[in-house]
Amino acid sequence: MFITLEGPEGSGKTSHIPYLVEYLREKGYTVFPTREPGGTSISEQIRDILHDLKNAEMHPRTETLLYQAARAQIVEQVIKPRLTAGEIVISDRYYDSTIAYQGYGHQQDLEQVRSLVKYATGGLTPDLTILLDLDVEVGLKRKTQNEVEWNRMDAYAVEFYQRVRKGYLEMVRQEPLRWVVVNSDRKWDEVQAELKKLILTGLKNK
Ligand code: TMP
Repeated sequence: MFITLEGPEGSGKTSHIPYLVEYLREKGYTVFPTREPGGTSISEQIRDILHDLKNAEMHPRTETLLYQAARAQIVEQVIKPRLTAGEIVISDRYYDSTIAYQGYGHQQDLEQVRSLVKYATGGLTPDLTILLDLDVEVGLKRKTQNEVEWNRMDAYAVEFYQRVRKGYLEMVRQEPLRWVVVNSDRKWDEVQAELKKLILTGLKNK
């Protein structure tokens, strides 16, 4: 089963994943966590270019293509082989991030972005995608307060992130069977408990 977590800045995806992995392993599942952009040596090098604050002049099309290059590598090198071996792969972001950030955020042509994403992934779609949703300003404030990595993708105007969130919610409407929305503007433990429940249900129904 291929599970992806999505969400705007500060939504907490990254802090939840290690606990979900541990929980599923205790239940006897073989689980492999990944993140995007990154997860392979080549993809991590591309991540550094994408996130480097010195690259402020990067054009949205360059940005879109670099995300796809990083993705193609992790799909072929890590995700497909793990899924073929019967493992559960949980990814911190996947192609929906491109549609949300480069498509809706940068207002690039959505059909073109979708076809690039399909090329990069070879058509590999998640079985379950969880959107950790919260108000954009709350998320950005959380991110600043938590002193986590501050990168080039955090330096856009607030309107950019508002379009990203709107994009996510639109994608949920378009594919309601794949997506589940979790309100992440709650206590961390409550969100974690809901995530565990959702993933177990997903696994049982698979
Ligand atoms: P994160 O480590 O906070 O998830 O940072 C990843 C950043 O990269 C985040 O701002 C979202 C952005 N991103 C895209 O814009 N497009 C993509 O396809 C991916 C995977 C991430």
